[in-house]
Amino acid sequence: MTEIRLPTVIVNFKAYTEVDGLSALRMAEICSAVAEETGVSIAVCPPMAELGAVARSVDIPVLSQHVDSRKPGSATGWVTPSMVAASGAIGSLLNHSEHRMVLSDIKEAVYMCRDASLISVVCTDSVETSGAAAFYRPDFIAVEPPELIGGDISVTTASPEVVSNAVDAVRSVDKGVAVLCGAGVKTGEDVSAALELGASGVLLASGVVKHKDPREALLGLVSKI
Ligand code: G3P
Repeated sequence: MTEIRLPTVIVNFKAYTEVDGLSALRMAEICSAVAEETGVSIAVCPPMAELGAVARSVDIPVLSQHVDSRKPGSATGWVTPSMVAASGAIGSLLNHSEHRMVLSDIKEAVYMCRDASLISVVCTDSVETSGAAAFYRPDFIAVEPPELIGGDISVTTASPEVVSNAVDAVRSVDKGVAVLCGAGVKTGEDVSAALELGASGVLLASGVVKHKDPREALLGLVSKI
């Protein structure tokens, strides 16, 4: 699958033990089934070690959790855009709050993703960094206040102005860059609030991956789209 439709829900599996090994594939299959059942665009970011296995097995968009601005060759342990593309993934998160990159590497990685026909999703922590990242023209910017990540209060409740102002900041630079928001997104109401604030979707993790019933959780999350 090579396309992310808007609005979209991107589920980042992070490195939770719940998705170690084959469990990553089971989680991706749940997401895929919910996407098929509801018609909502759902993409997944499996743990790096399972990227290829998941990308080759499900029909929904699969993204890497990270990519480095490195060329193929002498790059032991780095994740190159070339290997992400070859894995069957269609794009990558960059600069996640748990895997920050320096500015010059973000820029280079976005450009290398574009050259490799990979979608780039640059994570940012504020309105200012969202506006700045838009100058690199990634496909998506996902604004996530770090202090709300993994918590139970959604960015759309705690800091709705961060979402709407990030949307404005990005649009003022490039209207072609879609804005997602994330951090603490747990319910369908959180998702609909994100869309009302101008976001094109959400990036989330614990609300699905750590939930005792990921399928029920995801059905609730997409219920108001
Ligand atoms: O990548 C998504 C993430 O950082 C947000 O995590 O658990 O607050 O949905 P969570």
